[in-house]
Amino acid sequence: EKAGYKHFMAKEIAEQPVVIADALKHYTTAEGTLRLPEGVDFANVDRITMVACGTASYACHVAKYWFEQIAGLPAEIDVASEFRYREPPLSPQSWALFVSQSGETADTLAALRYASGKVARVVSVVNVPTSSIARESDLSLPILAGVEIGVASTKAFTCQLTVLALLALKAALDRGRIDAATLAGHLQSLRNLPGLMNHALSLSTPIAAIADDLAKAQDILFLGRGAMFPLALEGALKLKEISYIHAEGYASGELKHGPIALIDAAVPVIVMAPRDALFEKTVSNMQEVMARHGKVLLISDAQGVAEAGAGAWRTLTLPDMPPVFAPILYALPAQLLAYHTAIAKGTDVDQPRNLAKSVTVE
Ligand code: M6R
Repeated sequence: EKAGYKHFMAKEIAEQPVVIADALKHYTTAEGTLRLPEGVDFANVDRITMVACGTASYACHVAKYWFEQIAGLPAEIDVASEFRYREPPLSPQSWALFVSQSGETADTLAALRYASGKVARVVSVVNVPTSSIARESDLSLPILAGVEIGVASTKAFTCQLTVLALLALKAALDRGRIDAATLAGHLQSLRNLPGLMNHALSLSTPIAAIADDLAKAQDILFLGRGAMFPLALEGALKLKEISYIHAEGYASGELKHGPIALIDAAVPVIVMAPRDALFEKTVSNMQEVMARHGKVLLISDAQGVAEAGAGAWRTLTLPDMPPVFAPILYALPAQLLAYHTAIAKGTDVDQPRNLAKSVTVE
C-alpha cells in the first residue's frame, strides 16, 4: 500500500523519521544506555570485517569511520562479490558482520558462509529477520525498517546506519574509549535525528526544483570527505539506478587525481559537506570546480552555506547535527534528489529497468 504516495520510494523516504525512532527505541533505553543483545561484547575483538553489496556496502563504509574513530577498532570493508572469492585471511578474534536488507543476497550469503568458523562471531544486520543471512549468523540484529518495496533502498539504508552507529558506540564502551556520559550524549544526538529528518523532508520542494535541472545533465559527480565520502557513493548509486543518469561518487581529495578533467559548465557537482573539521579542505575542492565553471550544489548546514555558499550554483541548508552522525541525515537529500530527478525524467521509480529488489543469483 502506498498510503497516498505516488511511489513506494516516496513513502519509504517519508517513513524514515518514524522507523529510525522505532529502531532507537528498540536498542536504547530512555535513560541513555544501550540495549543490545547479550552476545554483543567487543572487549576481546581485534578487528571487524564488514561485507555487503550495493547500498548496504555503503552503510558498512560509513560504519568503518565510526568503528575506527569512535571505538579505535580496526575495521575492514568489502563488497561481497570480491570478498567471497578473494579468500581473505580472517583473525579468529575478529567479527565478521554482514549487512543486507533482504537477507537473501547471493554474494553476501556466500561471503557469510566463507567467514563462518574462521572468526569469533558471524553477525548480521538485516531487515528480514527470517532470511537466510539472519538464520545462518551467530547473532542477527534486525534494523526494524518495515517492508521496503522500492528497488532503490532508502529507509533500510538509514536504519542500517543507525544500528551500525549503536554497534560502534557499544564497541567504544567495551574498549574503554568512551564513558557512560559520552555515550548518553551520542545517544541524544541520535535521538534528535527523527526531528532533523522531518526538517530535511520539508526541503522536498526546493530539491524538486534543483532536480528539474539535474535531469538535463549527462554526468553528475558527488563529492564528500570522511564519513561523507561513502554518502557520495550512495548518492551517485541512488541517482543512477532510478534516473539512468551517469553519476559517480568520489572522495573530495581525489578530485585532482583525475575526475577534475570532466568538469565543465554541463557537469553538476554535488558536494555533501557539513561544517566539520575537514570543511575547509572540501571548500577548496569546491572552488577548484567552480573555477572550471562546474555547477556546484552545496549541501551543508547554515554555517557551511554562509561560509562557502557564495559562487555555488545552488545550496541546500540542512539543520545542525554533530558531524559524526551527519551521514544518516544527509542520506535524505541524496534520496530526494534521486527521486525527483527520476520523476523529472519520467522513469519507473519503484521498478527501474534491469534491476531486482533482491539479487539472489550472482
Ligand atoms: O538486500 P540487500 O541489502 O543485500 O541488497 C543489496 C543491494 O542489492 C541493494 O542495496 C541495491 O544496491 C539497491 N538497489 C540500492 O538502492
